[in-house]
Amino acid sequence: MFSIDRKDFGPGFTFGVATAAYQIEGGQGDGRGPSIWDSFSATPGNVHNGDTGRNACDHYELWPQDLDLIRDGGFDGYRFSFAWPRLIPEGTGAVNQAGLDFYDRLIDGMLERGIKPYATLYHWDLPSTLQDRGGWMNRDIAGWFGDYAALVATKFGDRLEATATINEPWCVAFLSHFIGAHAPGYRDIRAAARAMHHVLYAHGTAVDALRANGARNLGIVLNLEKSEPAGDAPGDLAAANMGDALANRWYLGGVLKGKYPEEVTNWLGEHLPSGYERDMEVVSRPLDWLGINYYTRGIYKASPAGLPQKVDGPLERTDIGWEIYPKGLTDLLVRVSNEYTKIPLYVTENGMAEVEGDDDPRRVTYYDDHLKAVLAAREQGADVRGYFAWSLLDNFEWAEGYNKRFGIVHVDYQTQVRTPKSSYRAFQGMLHNTR
Ligand code: FCB
Repeated sequence: MFSIDRKDFGPGFTFGVATAAYQIEGGQGDGRGPSIWDSFSATPGNVHNGDTGRNACDHYELWPQDLDLIRDGGFDGYRFSFAWPRLIPEGTGAVNQAGLDFYDRLIDGMLERGIKPYATLYHWDLPSTLQDRGGWMNRDIAGWFGDYAALVATKFGDRLEATATINEPWCVAFLSHFIGAHAPGYRDIRAAARAMHHVLYAHGTAVDALRANGARNLGIVLNLEKSEPAGDAPGDLAAANMGDALANRWYLGGVLKGKYPEEVTNWLGEHLPSGYERDMEVVSRPLDWLGINYYTRGIYKASPAGLPQKVDGPLERTDIGWEIYPKGLTDLLVRVSNEYTKIPLYVTENGMAEVEGDDDPRRVTYYDDHLKAVLAAREQGADVRGYFAWSLLDNFEWAEGYNKRFGIVHVDYQTQVRTPKSSYRAFQGMLHNTR
């Protein structure tokens, strides 16, 4: 049971659940092309236990029961992502009719059940042929992504409640091209600098393409962290500032103000694409809403290597090791509202990994505390219009494979049986009868 009530959020507040194509769909036999996560996960050592998204939760076949779960939980919306390689197997050019048909069924299935479709164009499954051409390092990706966005707008735009271009551009760029933990697994400052700019240039290009082809209610989903210094030492403060610039201000500043933080442009220097400044008007195209994914804070201390170094905080952690810090969500929402934008904000992901089981009281508390954090942000003036729990189902958690479970519904990967957890029941209890 949650301690809060749906009424506390006022009428019109959207409650939903979120997933992503590669993490749940499976269904690789319909003409879908390979993605960078297929090859990354097939490379030994990249993913825990050698897990891949080949079958995942078989949502490709089991989507009717998954949509039933969303409806029966009382949720208003479903945040899902399109798989680019399912729709356009080679990334550009020929369209896969079976892929169009799948998303037709899925979207119509939502509408039939009274669930609002919140779509994401890119949740990390880049078509492999585009990676062969340099992927996010190649400026041409803006055009490739724009064409894909136009296809989605044309085929589905009239049925979508809202569309986000990119999920978590920090992960697309920095985690995947500098830290190397996600596909394509590069550790290279030039690769990162290029991806950091091109991902936002592609976002702006896609916004234009979506609008021109009739899609409405457009946004982007940023993963933000509350960046804090480990102590009072000047080096710690500087590290936290740089951490904040790399994780938050690059994306907030770029998208909402058309300006990147100087600390980061100075650091990246010649590795940035030349003339990137000329793209900033496209990068900062006006949006209708902003999505924020929040999981934890980042605590930084000075590092001899120069770049900010993260250290563990003292608070209770989730099963994936992330500190539980609901106040960070309030602070971030209020900061974005005060310093960056007055467009509607959505918490597009929030949730926790927990050990396997159907009874997940810690997750109930996690959600309760973070929902209260949203209410606190609203009281302080942040215009938060919705909240999506990550995730509906236990699923393929990227480099952690199936080992880390974020679902409010348990998945037995042998049988594909879904079992609602206590956290699902808590949402259902709060949302029941109000849909
Ligand atoms: C976010 C991702 C999502 C999921 C959660 C736990 O960074 O957007 O796909 O993996 O973390």
